Amino acid sequence: MIPFMPHTSTNYIILQSQTIYMKFFIDTANLAQIQEANDLGILDGVTTNPSLMAKEGIRGTEAINNHYKTICEMVDGPVSAEVLSTTFDEIIAEGQKLAQIHENIVVKVPMIKDGIKAIKWFTDNGISTNCTLVFSAGQAILAAKAGATFVSPFIGRIDDSSWDGVQLIEQITNIYNAQGYMTEVLAASIRNPLHIVRCAEAGADVCTCPLNSILGLLKHPLTDIGLAQFLNDAKSMQ
Ligand code: G3P
Repeated sequence: MIPFMPHTSTNYIILQSQTIYMKFFIDTANLAQIQEANDLGILDGVTTNPSLMAKEGIRGTEAINNHYKTICEMVDGPVSAEVLSTTFDEIIAEGQKLAQIHENIVVKVPMIKDGIKAIKWFTDNGISTNCTLVFSAGQAILAAKAGATFVSPFIGRIDDSSWDGVQLIEQITNIYNAQGYMTEVLAASIRNPLHIVRCAEAGADVCTCPLNSILGLLKHPLTDIGLAQFLNDAKSMQ
């Protein structure tokens, strides 16, 4: 596994050229779930968003920052922390503060005009970014052009509107490969294990998943039946 490195231009090139398999992030701010996924030994990072943070009952800047710090100390990998601002100056001020919490913080910025400007500024100033709320290839091109470390297409929400979210992952991956963009495609809004499998097929660099989708990958009835039979037959050997 390639360790996450803070976003300097040199590190970025090394990281990108060595990334050869899909990474698993967990999409939650729940510490117990983060711990459970981390204990599996397959966790590469964490993504959060304001809805996930609010769900944990976290209130106020100090509590929010402490929560991000705790997550960074639990998981050795990028931790996305989303800005709540929507204007350039405010996004920069807020993102700089978030980035100071821990070197693994990735500043999550919405796909809006000032967000793109801010991503370019963060890129130029060595701060990693995750461009969020991406629903089209055009948006993904802009995010990559601004130098985003990650781009987050929301595939579950696209499926909810009867479009094919995974098809967008494939399209963005093809565009980035054709153009040589170094932004990592981070498939977000994962709703089930099949999404993870299809994102792997589509060439996503990262899949950020709820814990139950990750654990769903374990499930197959023939595994359970086969194991029960093996354990039963093994009794005759004792
Ligand atoms: O973190 C962004 C994303 O994963 C949201 O997922 O299920 O709310 O569409 P969802």
